[in-house]
Amino acid sequence: MSQTIPAPVPPSVFPEGPGLFRLDPGVAHLNHGSFGAVPIPVRDVQVGLRAELEADPDAFFLAAPDRIEAARRRIATHLGAEPDGIAFVSNATEAANIAFAALRLAEGDEILVTDHGYPTVSASAALLAPLRTVTLDPALPDEDAVCEAVLAALTPRTKVAVLDHITSPTARIVAGPRLLAALAERGVTTIVDGAHALGMLADPLAGGADFWFGNLHKWGYGPAGSAILAVAERHRGSVRALVPSWEDHHGFPRSIENRATADYTGWLAAPEGLDVLNRLGADKVRAHNTALAAYGSSLLAETAGLTPLPYSEGVAMRTLRLPPGVAETQDAARALRVEVFDRLRARVNTFGRPGGGGLRVCGQIYNRPEEYEALATGVARLLDGR
Ligand SMILES: Cc1ncc(COP(=O)(O)O)c(C=O)c1O
Repeated sequence: MSQTIPAPVPPSVFPEGPGLFRLDPGVAHLNHGSFGAVPIPVRDVQVGLRAELEADPDAFFLAAPDRIEAARRRIATHLGAEPDGIAFVSNATEAANIAFAALRLAEGDEILVTDHGYPTVSASAALLAPLRTVTLDPALPDEDAVCEAVLAALTPRTKVAVLDHITSPTARIVAGPRLLAALAERGVTTIVDGAHALGMLADPLAGGADFWFGNLHKWGYGPAGSAILAVAERHRGSVRALVPSWEDHHGFPRSIENRATADYTGWLAAPEGLDVLNRLGADKVRAHNTALAAYGSSLLAETAGLTPLPYSEGVAMRTLRLPPGVAETQDAARALRVEVFDRLRARVNTFGRPGGGGLRVCGQIYNRPEEYEALATGVARLLDGR
């Protein structure tokens, strides 16, 4: 029986999307997953807060701890989290380092990571203990296969597992509830990098990790420098600020949040990001973004001949394998990313891997189907003959 593959159908434009951002219209921003983008209402709240700070610094900084607490409570309500179980931090990298510093490891203990883990996070883990790195084949068909691969790599010395909720290079869910439960059963402390999960998934904290962190400044529409670290109650007493400051005696979470004189406006404006998401309709946004990423992926496969990698449902990012020889190293992948921008005025992410690196596209409410169409045609031309 012959099977015809239907041509990809372009999703409609999210009506309020493009007007909500001040992005350069001359660029196709197809890489929301790397640095996020801030909707105008969130930016306006932050500008207002900066004006307050400049008008009366004493008043602003004296009130800051209580205002941060109020902002944290709003975030906790959005996430269904205990307000005292989460703390604002600046980014996922900082959160990982705070979590690592809270661990009590003995000589010979190992930390399990995967080769899809984020480099800053895995590098920090390596400072603490020997790493056991699970190589995850990007072609693993589903979450169960990923789960089995991770569990098979455990040894009696594995005391901690550092796992992505959603991986950056392959846009896959790794630390799903099943894997977290299996690791907890085996007495392995879990640290989950949810950099992409906050705002992307409906209930990112559901897995019950020992430590979980997520960026508000990606899919949560928060300003740059806004992220949260969630800590299970039994670990909170071990968590210390990397730079102790005024609120140190309060313990978690206030001790983590006080950085003396610093710019707290991003954290204070961050709840507006999740409010924007909810006002737009979080489910609607997610469905739209996922459909756009899928559309981009189909076009890149059809027009440019790239091979789509297996993906996780509900993730608004898709990675496609590049032909062999194009991005076998990180340097080559970086050069390709620059070339895509220089020649096509499109922002994408690329990943180096021996045998064939990857190109990742994201979907967001400011994106339009034509941007993916132009990318696919441009990438086909750019790779022609390589
Ligand atoms: C999975 C993952 N973890 C961590 C990070 C680092 O985030 P940040 O720069 O906010 O520390 C990223 C950034 O893209 C990421 O994708």
